[in-house]
Amino acid sequence: SLPVENVQELASNNLKEIPHRYIRPELNPDEVSVDESLQIPVIDMSKLATDHVDYQNEMAELHQACKEWGFFQLINHGATIAIEKMKVVVEDFFKLPLEQKMIYAQLPNDLEGYGQAFVISEDQKLDWGGLLFLYSLPTSQRNMRFWPNNPKSQLLTFSNPSRSTLDEYSTELHKLCLSLFNLMAMNLGLDAKKISSLYEDCVQGIRVNYYPPCLQADKVIGLAPHSDATGLTLLVQVNEVQGLQIKKNSKWVPIKPIPGAIIINIGDVMEILSNGEYCSIEHRAVVLFQKERLSVAAFHSPNICVKIGPLPDLVKENGANYKTLRHEDFIRLVISRKLDGKSLLRTMK
Ligand code: SIN
Ligand code: FE2
Repeated sequence: SLPVENVQELASNNLKEIPHRYIRPELNPDEVSVDESLQIPVIDMSKLATDHVDYQNEMAELHQACKEWGFFQLINHGATIAIEKMKVVVEDFFKLPLEQKMIYAQLPNDLEGYGQAFVISEDQKLDWGGLLFLYSLPTSQRNMRFWPNNPKSQLLTFSNPSRSTLDEYSTELHKLCLSLFNLMAMNLGLDAKKISSLYEDCVQGIRVNYYPPCLQADKVIGLAPHSDATGLTLLVQVNEVQGLQIKKNSKWVPIKPIPGAIIINIGDVMEILSNGEYCSIEHRAVVLFQKERLSVAAFHSPNICVKIGPLPDLVKENGANYKTLRHEDFIRLVISRKLDGKSLLRTMK
């Protein structure tokens, strides 16, 4: 990947006219119109306990949300403490002077670290956002560069003497994700054990997004339209500033974050495993004129031993809607699709 200017630094200059590499001609006027009238479903995790009076009803709502929207907001999820601590840590991180953030800088051809989304060509348009990405699970995959046992490290503020905020966040969101996989498996009529075995040593990556304000906010994009190439993404809106938009009926629907909720979205892998019963939806992040915006995405994917293809139990009389690939070949495809900007799911059909 090619080195590019740091967007947060660039933004701090309050430029009236930003470099042309950030300007998106398709936004003026926006090729896709915005629909403010719709909103993604809200799922109440406390009602998904088997002994709750609303259990059946909420399970049906969850199933519907995964089928029709691919996105929902989850409330009463039980991860509030870990999330609130993490919010403080990430806000503090992006407030650090550049040279301190650069301790965690992306190294050439490495996805992990502090920097920007993958840049592969000199004329590629750039996102108006910075990020910090790292692999958090399985723990054996942790790069000790980001996980030093160093209480002074800003990233790893300790919530108690033995555990970092990041570690607690990773564990709590992973737990929640496994519960959701189980519920989805039940809704799909699968043996819950089968789906949890897919995610048994699941891979978790955490990406913190930082979108600085921009005087030409209507001409730039914080995160270009994409669908997540993962199983399930758990997204936290750190400062509850609106900016996430999802594609629905060929329009952008702005998500109005509920304070304390987690936004959950089905990724490409889940769509493929479910043979298309659940959908992975295109989304993007827009930028604001005066306010910065932060979000934290926790991506969860099956472990590397799992083949990526429709689960045999879900391939009925109509057959498989997607190819089946070895995990390594799937990853290779994800990377090559990213480079030419084409839809991964279309390629898998
Ligand atoms: C993402 O798609 O990973 C992040 C979107 C957001 O910042 O809300
Ligand atoms: Fe995403």
